[in-house]
Amino acid sequence: MEITSEIKKTREIIKQAKAAGKTIGLVPTMGALHEGHLSLIRICRQKCDFVIVSIFVNPTQFGPAEDLAKYPRPFEWDCRLCRDNGVDLVFAPAAEEMYPQKQIIWVDVETLGDHLCGASRPGHFRGVCTVVAKLFNIITPDIACFGQKDAQQLAIIRQMVRGLNMNLEICPCPTVREPDGLALSSRNQYLDSQQRQQALCLLQALRRAGEMVAAGQSDTQAIIAAMKEIIERQPQTRIDYISIVDNDLLQPISRLDRPALIALAVYLGPTRLIDNIIVDPANKSL
Ligand code: PAF
Repeated sequence: MEITSEIKKTREIIKQAKAAGKTIGLVPTMGALHEGHLSLIRICRQKCDFVIVSIFVNPTQFGPAEDLAKYPRPFEWDCRLCRDNGVDLVFAPAAEEMYPQKQIIWVDVETLGDHLCGASRPGHFRGVCTVVAKLFNIITPDIACFGQKDAQQLAIIRQMVRGLNMNLEICPCPTVREPDGLALSSRNQYLDSQQRQQALCLLQALRRAGEMVAAGQSDTQAIIAAMKEIIERQPQTRIDYISIVDNDLLQPISRLDRPALIALAVYLGPTRLIDNIIVDPANKSL
């Protein structure tokens, strides 16, 4: 496995892999790899001949009061996990390599970017799209893998690829969970034991929503109210949002008459966690 930090060197290696007829897969990450990332890597490995993991804690997607400085950076450990999981190249640039000068060109998102997670994280998806577009231009992958856990990010990246005619396939990958159901996240490590226990209410609320849909409930406000009640039973929670939206343009829907994304973000103390499920009232399954 090779590790690069320079764009030029990275491009050379990729050029050679392409010349040897290999298909290129990218798993973009901010490091602090966990089983969720490893499942993206394994899916990418199955689909592509040459797997690249980018590790870059992208400053432009963090707000001024967010956890950029304290975001975990266990680089050696991450590289070991990549090596053990058959990654061919880790691209881990410094911020100066990705942003050598003040960034004045941005990939911005209308509509999809300013609600759900975008409401409490202004500019976040502009930062995500810009860095992902840079990574796509540097790496020119055939396939890039993204987790369904970040459903809004996935929907926005898909729109970006479509809207800017980018020549690659976006591969959505299922959310990986702890045995008790908590969705894996690098931020879970910030939780103390009480918060960790209370964090289970996110999935409990989503499961309740799924049951209500399966039982024929189509009033999204009733579903949201039931979810709210489950979460508010836990003393350390603060709801950022609970939304039921269409899974393409992420517009809120009032009656569940088509497949929808039920997404929520909840603070446990200072740590903000997200999770979601897709429901389809037609086949009444999660
Ligand atoms: O999902 C993430 O870890 C990041 O948002 C991404 C896609 C690597 C862009 O920085």
